[in-house]
Amino acid sequence: MSPSATAALAGQRILLCVGGGIAAYKSLELVRRLREAGAEVQVAMTAGAQQFVTPLSFQALSGQPVRTTLWDSAAEQAMGHLELARWADRVLVAPATADLLARLAHGLADDLVTTLCLATEAPLSVAPAMNHRMWRHPATAANVALLTGRGVQVIGPDDGPLAEGESGPGRLREPEAIVAVLAAGGAPAAPPAEGLLQGMRVVVSAGPTYEDLDPVRYLGNRSSGKMGFAVAAAAARQGAQVVLVAGPVHLETPPGVRRVDVRSAEQMREAVAAALPADVYVGAAAVADYTPRAFSPSKIKKTGTGQTLALDLVRTPDILAEVAQREDAGLKLVVGFAAETDNVADYARQKLTAKHLDLIVANRVGVPGSGFESDDNAMTAYWPAGERDFPPAPKVRLAEGLVELIAQRLQA
Ligand code: PMT
Repeated sequence: MSPSATAALAGQRILLCVGGGIAAYKSLELVRRLREAGAEVQVAMTAGAQQFVTPLSFQALSGQPVRTTLWDSAAEQAMGHLELARWADRVLVAPATADLLARLAHGLADDLVTTLCLATEAPLSVAPAMNHRMWRHPATAANVALLTGRGVQVIGPDDGPLAEGESGPGRLREPEAIVAVLAAGGAPAAPPAEGLLQGMRVVVSAGPTYEDLDPVRYLGNRSSGKMGFAVAAAAARQGAQVVLVAGPVHLETPPGVRRVDVRSAEQMREAVAAALPADVYVGAAAVADYTPRAFSPSKIKKTGTGQTLALDLVRTPDILAEVAQREDAGLKLVVGFAAETDNVADYARQKLTAKHLDLIVANRVGVPGSGFESDDNAMTAYWPAGERDFPPAPKVRLAEGLVELIAQRLQA
């Protein structure tokens, strides 16, 4: 155990809540390491956790009776669950299963562990562990986003071999690493009393645009709208009044967001202009760069012997560049996205300058598991004097990080 972990955790009272996953056995080692660092540890277990490890094992390692149910009159006499929730300087849930994360995110209190987490005022950390598909599922990503939005510290999971023989993100972070994170981070950030963008007006564009050629055909692109919708949702959770200008996508409107549906680049331009003035504009839409010079009111026919068809296209307005130049828009921050297949950093910085942006978020497209359509992404944000990497993660979580960065850049 490093001397710094020992110094940071010595004397801390840590309530370890163990969830029902195969990784529960690693929490035994966690107790040992926390105690080595000088922390006092009490353990509470879900019913599922007791299927994997016995309370007796935790009792032996923690040196304290282990709590397993709300309905234990002897335990309640010794230290009631509310008293235990007050006793803790910090609460750590490890492993945090998908089910447990969902119940914590939604404030359920239907067993001892969830009741303790709801009743405590101590900072809460969760160390998720589950199958990689469950971790990537949008429901889990949304639950994690809800928790992080409330100031819960999420530790891991790690990417690697999983118990069921598969591999991917979902491994419980190693006990030593969890202890190091707890020690390094001090107390997790308290949930903001107000959202980071409280009261701000934010306009977000999302999805593709469709440029109609004739009544049956259009030019479009692969944008699903997931990234832009995630940004709109994250901004709304941080207290912003959000207008989401959405191209043709099949996504639910995020709670608290006003949505305006459009189809073409020209319609998106008009809807964005109508949503201004605002404090922040985020252009996450993949706006078509070209549109047919003329719409054919009747279906374009195959010509006699012709093997090719030339389309006459004209440039669309650059909505982002126009917005950034508008002095009457009241904007404090204009954020663009850049979808690139190569030279990502160079092209992104060129767009930052050419379009007079405050921030540009570059993502690599054309690789599996990132960019268009995927639930995940990896991005780098650039501003004139800096940059920040966002490693691969679900778009919902990246959007939370981006909104935090936007809030920071607004203060800069
Ligand atoms: O929708 P998803 O499936 O989740 O995919 C997400 C995404 C990859 C589409 C998204 O993260 C992203 O990168 N969006 C921007 C894609 C894009 O159009 O990049 P660009 O480099 O062509 O455009 C640069 C910027 O100019 C963008 O902010 C774009 O909104 C804006 N633009 C471009 C052309 C135009 N006529 N008007 C614009 O406003």
